Amino acid sequence: MRVLIEGVVTPMKRFRVFVFLAAIAGFTAYQGRQLHIYAASDQAPAGQATQNAGPTHGGDAAAAHPSELAAAGGSLFQQNCAFCHGRDAGGGETGPDLTRSKLVGEDVGGDKISDVVLHGRPDKGMPAFNTLSSEQITDLAAFIHSEQIKAMAQSGKRKGVDVSDLQTGNVEAGKDYFNGPGGCATCHSPTGDLAGVASRYEGLQLEERMLYPKDVKSKVTVTLASGEKLTGTLAYLDEFTVGMRDTTGTYRSWPVNSVKYSVDAPVEAHVALFSKYTDADIHNLMAYMQTLR
Ligand code: HEC
Ligand code: HEC
Repeated sequence: MRVLIEGVVTPMKRFRVFVFLAAIAGFTAYQGRQLHIYAASDQAPAGQATQNAGPTHGGDAAAAHPSELAAAGGSLFQQNCAFCHGRDAGGGETGPDLTRSKLVGEDVGGDKISDVVLHGRPDKGMPAFNTLSSEQITDLAAFIHSEQIKAMAQSGKRKGVDVSDLQTGNVEAGKDYFNGPGGCATCHSPTGDLAGVASRYEGLQLEERMLYPKDVKSKVTVTLASGEKLTGTLAYLDEFTVGMRDTTGTYRSWPVNSVKYSVDAPVEAHVALFSKYTDADIHNLMAYMQTLR
């Protein structure tokens, strides 16, 4: 820790060091919880669950064994990614097989995967997960790599997309979820914006649309240094630049540090839902959506 405390140790610096240490302790506890959840869940591939069951040792997160990282990543993956990419990353109803991905093949410790996960490819149906920490992404990458190794070992025995899953839901349960715990009714109405949605999209396309509607535009409000406020469609955003199309269709952009801006992206509520859904919720919702013709 010496490196952190250079020169005069101000109370502020001491506070920062404290916060840093507290964060490490918190992270370690968090990892322990993840491992515990994973070991207790029947979603874990059998071999790994037993291998990692039991208390975590010592609490030195940096020294975690690769298979422990993969186990922590496994539970994150089941929560956030499996709906689209399948439980074993081997491809699912709406996302590609990651075990056959060239990008995954070239990834080392998350260096390629992290960019895709943090920024997503919103135009292609891959959401951005910008609240995941770099540790969580390293864990996710470890899990994806371990699945890739398994898949290569047993090629030929792959399971495909199970379209019949789309027909297993319960309409009433889906409707209850829509109006209740899913919170869908706060933004949508079956007789308003979603009326006829099942006539506009079918099967997988409808599921894709429901999980993560692609190509949806966000609103942005930019406040200039002068106090002038401008509202438009978000056209570009990274750590340096914010850009919009104003009401006349003209593109304008600013360095982010010269203005204040706020983005209104209600569709991101769909990303927050990934960690809440169970497979049954999705299939029930799909059954309900399919009645909206
Ligand atoms: C709503 C569905 C959905 C969810 C949820 C999702 N993905 Fe994706 N993902 C996609 C789609 C669709 C693509 C393909 C995008 C394209 O065609 O470029 C993709 C692409 C990727 C790729 C790039 C593969 C390649 O070969 O280019 C990676 C890596 C990836 N996803 C990882 C993840 C991880 C990790 C998570 C969870 C944190 C996740 N995805 C969650 C739909 C999803
Ligand atoms: C915070 C608001 C919000 C919440 C909560 C929300 N959505 Fe959405 N949803 C959106 C927005 C915004 C869009 C994009 C609408 C568009 O295409 O213009 C969208 C699109 C959709 C679409 C595609 C509609 C179409 O015509 O293309 C479906 C289906 C959908 N949502 C279902 C759901 C379900 C089911 C839930 C609950 C599990 C849910 N949404 C929760 C905001 C929300």
